[in-house]
Amino acid sequence: MCGIVGAVAERNVVEILLEGLKRLEYRGYDSAGVALLQSDGNLTRIRRTGKVQELADAVANSEALGSTGIAHTRWATHGGVTEANAHPHFSSERVAVVHNGIIENYVSLRNQLTEKGYRFTSDTDTETIAHTVHEELKSGKNLLNAVQSAVNTFHGAYGTVIMDKEDPSRVVVARSGSPLVIGLGLGENFIASDQMALLPVTRRFIFLEEGDVAEITRRTVDIFDKHGAPVEREVVESNIEHDAGDKGGYRHYMLKEIHEQPTVVRNALQQRITETGLAPDVFGEGADAIFKQVKHVQIIACGTSYHAGMTARYWLEQYANVSCNVEIASEFRYRKSVVHPNSLLITISQSGETADTLAALRLAKESGYMSSLTICNVPGSSLVRESDLAFMTRAGAEIGVASTKAFTTQLTAFLMLTLALGKENGMLESDESGIVAALHSLPAKLEETLAITNGIEDLAEEFADKNHSLFLGRGDQYPIAMEGALKLKEISYIHAEAYASGELKHGPLALIDDEMPVIVVAPNNELLEKLKSNVEEVRARGGIMYVFADKDAAFEGDESMRVINVPHCDSPIAPIIYTLPLQLLSYYVALIKGTDVDQPRNLAKSVTVE
Ligand code: F6R
Repeated sequence: MCGIVGAVAERNVVEILLEGLKRLEYRGYDSAGVALLQSDGNLTRIRRTGKVQELADAVANSEALGSTGIAHTRWATHGGVTEANAHPHFSSERVAVVHNGIIENYVSLRNQLTEKGYRFTSDTDTETIAHTVHEELKSGKNLLNAVQSAVNTFHGAYGTVIMDKEDPSRVVVARSGSPLVIGLGLGENFIASDQMALLPVTRRFIFLEEGDVAEITRRTVDIFDKHGAPVEREVVESNIEHDAGDKGGYRHYMLKEIHEQPTVVRNALQQRITETGLAPDVFGEGADAIFKQVKHVQIIACGTSYHAGMTARYWLEQYANVSCNVEIASEFRYRKSVVHPNSLLITISQSGETADTLAALRLAKESGYMSSLTICNVPGSSLVRESDLAFMTRAGAEIGVASTKAFTTQLTAFLMLTLALGKENGMLESDESGIVAALHSLPAKLEETLAITNGIEDLAEEFADKNHSLFLGRGDQYPIAMEGALKLKEISYIHAEAYASGELKHGPLALIDDEMPVIVVAPNNELLEKLKSNVEEVRARGGIMYVFADKDAAFEGDESMRVINVPHCDSPIAPIIYTLPLQLLSYYVALIKGTDVDQPRNLAKSVTVE
């Protein structure tokens, strides 16, 4: 979603800001801008719709330079994609603001500010921040106090950075609902919405807490909590690789990340499973004592992470004897739900910053859950900091907007959680040893599965001119069918729906014709015969099928059915294995269609607004 970078230095910060924006491009955006306090005392701004490179070209053709500056990539919420709506927004050529999030009461603020004589030049909610701060400055406050007063009038979510032309030595930042991280340099300091943006200039970070306002100069960082009291926040040394943003020879980040899966899954398992079971305390100190009491699990997540949760429900109930509900965060947070006794709340998130998931966690913490665990990929993220227990998926930075390796490491984490909870709930020894053995085989199986790429490229050719598609799976492959459909629609823009194949005759069979490809995931498990009956139902109605099947599942390909063999694997890991061919299918279809694979239209990597 939107990205923020800011810097206060002695040197010219233009390149730092532009490089930071480039490193945030993966999050998705539609316009970009930069504002600088120039050494001649002027406040200058350059904005462009489209890519950061267009902004960089415009900056290169200008005289713009400055040692204090802010920059932004915008993902439109209020107001269309126009230069006038791109950030930074100004008030009276004095105050400059960049903002992530949504000021929900912007209409009433706008009316009040208009009455006071402010003229709005954009359709954004953000411009109300600029004018509100300006109004406070007019009453004689310094920038810090002006921002502290202004934020009291905002409802909604914001991560915002503000500069004042009259005081070029500092920026003031405020966080409520949208993450901000301060980067500490030597004689220079930085601010960003994501540490990725600042890795070329520092590895030392302070993650701001909810309600924090901070004043940043070249040599000082002063942080105040939501009550205005000065606070110290921990300085964290980042271990994220500086070049995690490189494509490593692959054409797209998504392809690179698909191919990284054997390695990152191996990392996710490292020192967590032994030859015979789970290593102690892998879910953190105190986790085993909590797990002893767990009688119910409530999983909350969005999108792909939600699909990981749906898969986990099959495992937790089948192998660990723990009852489990799974819900989309945006639904959970706005309805009254019953909290079962001894319930563990689990959030799942690649980014750890998804607004709905975070809000659901905060709500649940007040609702009587026994404890909260997050399964997350970003250390130091809001979900990690606000949950009782955090389990890191170790997928490494995921740049492609469409989630791939984050998903398979989330599933790997859930198999480990199944072992941990199962141990306390009478899990069968044979299930335990079966899952452990399957996990040990997983990285190699993933490598074997990636080798079937060629067949999938051919299949994608047949697929790319279609407008609709149906994905079918049963049992723990149903969420995998959902994930396959999500991947296809996200990056190829082909309409895709997923059904539990037993549901076919309850409606979707009416859609079947030779223009609607049907993709089936068919491991060799106890539901195979049922699935084969569903396949016959499609065949009898002239449907064209693409079946990803275990080589021993005995599917015979013919005119109406193309069979792609997937290496045989043990049941517990089959959902992870079958995810890969579906990821590759959507990737190659998108490639043929020529869409923007890594930054699909209208989407953002980290959804920090609800
Ligand atoms: C799909 C995708 C999204 C995310 C969702 C939640 O490929 O990436 O559906 O899964 O926005 O994001 P996280 O996992 O960061 O909470």
